[in-house]
Amino acid sequence: MGRSIAIASGKGGVGKTTFVANLGVALASGGAKTLLVDTDIAMANLSLIFKLQNSPITLHEILMGDANIEDAVYAAHKGVEIVPSGLSLESYRKADPARLKQAIESVVNKYDFVLLDVPAGIERCALASFNAAQQTLIITTPDAASAADALKAKSVAQRLMSKPFAFVINMVREEKGELTKTQLSTMLELPYYGSIPYDPEVRKSFVEGLDPVIIRRPQSPASKAIVDIANKIAGRRVEVTEEKKSFFSGLFGRFFKKKGV
Ligand SMILES: Nc1ncnc2c1ncn2[C@@H]1O[C@H](COP(=O)(O)OP(=O)(O)OP(=O)(O)O)[C@@H](O)[C@H]1O
Ligand SMILES: [Mg+2]
Repeated sequence: MGRSIAIASGKGGVGKTTFVANLGVALASGGAKTLLVDTDIAMANLSLIFKLQNSPITLHEILMGDANIEDAVYAAHKGVEIVPSGLSLESYRKADPARLKQAIESVVNKYDFVLLDVPAGIERCALASFNAAQQTLIITTPDAASAADALKAKSVAQRLMSKPFAFVINMVREEKGELTKTQLSTMLELPYYGSIPYDPEVRKSFVEGLDPVIIRRPQSPASKAIVDIANKIAGRRVEVTEEKKSFFSGLFGRFFKKKGV
């Protein structure tokens, strides 16, 4: 039985898309077959990270009723597939987000994880994403505005039966004035799954068109934090140690030994 997880923040620009891309690679490197879905159909960004922005069939066609989700699945990385979103404004206007739930449900059991890159805000596409996903993982930055919006996103997810199960903190700089994990956990009333440091290397996948940081620099603090979060999500603790040799054999361990993935 696959797990569909909406990755949501409420507030824009906190790192949802970047996190979805890196988390997907981390989960897949642990042996989990993973599908990433760019449900931000107005501002498609996820496909840019994997250079799949010119894919002929996208989530737009699925939401217009012109294609099945299987027709829009592309290989992004080893063990990671992606359903990109389209770029055309016209197809965006014609897309009906109500079709998302059925599309996700029709593929979820073919994967261990289906991660949805939920748009910022609580407009129709965000609501459709919560409606389509079984669970929600909240991502926030350590500031009050982001935390307040994360709380809103959590409430909406809850109302739409996409069970919020944890939160993560992104772009942590360890500076004075940042909210702590304890403060955020109290505010959000959710278990804390980890903190990803602010790291200029992370930005390079958008700014310079480079691969996600977890592929380029698996030993960086940001990558290790994401691996740690992936292990928690997959329900298994794997120690990350420097002496482990290769990215695939050492860093992640295997979450799933005999699942045929
Ligand atoms: N840990 C990090 N350290 C440094 N930069 C980061 C980190 N996480 C994300 N970023 C950068 O922050 C910017 C916003 O990230 P991203 O687009 O993933 O956010 P988002 O929440 O998906 O935004 P939107 O709400 O617009 O969809 C990007 O330039 C990204 O590279
Ligand atoms: Mg985004």
